[in-house]
Amino acid sequence: MEIDYSKYYWKNDIITLRQPKADDWEYQVRCMFDSQARFFFNEEIEMPTDVEKYKKMFTENDNKDMGFICFAIENNDGRHVGICNLFGVNERNGIFGPIGIQIDADERGKGYGTAAFRMLGRYMFNERRMHKWNSEYIEGNAGSAALHKKIGFEIEGVRKDIYFHNGRYWNTVIVGMTEKQFFENNK
Ligand SMILES: CC(C)(COP(=O)(O)OP(=O)(O)OC[C@H]1O[C@@H](n2cnc3c(N)ncnc32)[C@H](O)[C@@H]1OP(=O)(O)O)[C@@H](O)C(=O)NCCC(=O)NCCS
Repeated sequence: MEIDYSKYYWKNDIITLRQPKADDWEYQVRCMFDSQARFFFNEEIEMPTDVEKYKKMFTENDNKDMGFICFAIENNDGRHVGICNLFGVNERNGIFGPIGIQIDADERGKGYGTAAFRMLGRYMFNERRMHKWNSEYIEGNAGSAALHKKIGFEIEGVRKDIYFHNGRYWNTVIVGMTEKQFFENNK
């Protein structure tokens, strides 16, 4: 079926956010082999990847059962370039986050991360009546620090010695942003 996406909420001139589908599993498994990015994304160096295990996980898991919402990020050529996971939606307090995001190593710096964060931020604040987006990144993650700063996050603190990696402890930088700050920074 031919679909006209030109009026679709989840598409702009840079990316489309869509639900993961069963045949995304190969993409998801490929992400597992970028170990430094996996540490920044998943906070640990994982044990060797079992491709069949991951295939089962990604093809059989229902988005709703995972405790977070997973989106596939496609660029406008229809290429799958990244994933993002929305965690911590708290309707009572109107807070959400973090949103974990990973863009393919050779697709970084092209604006896909910014576009995905903007699209999800706009949805969470404008459609889900959220008030505050909480997030964090591991110290030394220059890409994530730059992305958060560009979106308008403010540093709220540093949680010290929270992860152990590469023979030492690493801090995380705690950041946050209200809907007012989001719309001021992302007009
Ligand atoms: C963090 C990440 C998602 C950013 O995605 P991206 O698509 O490269 O981001 P964008 O292209 O939208 O760039 C956003 C800003 O960050 C800057 N930036 C991107 N990578 C950078 C890097 N390694 N060092 C410094 N700045 C960087 C860009 O220049 C841009 O700023 P500008 O528009 O002022 O030039 C991506 O680097 C990634 O997947 N990293 C590995 C996994 C990870 O760390 N996930 C985040 C966990 S919190």
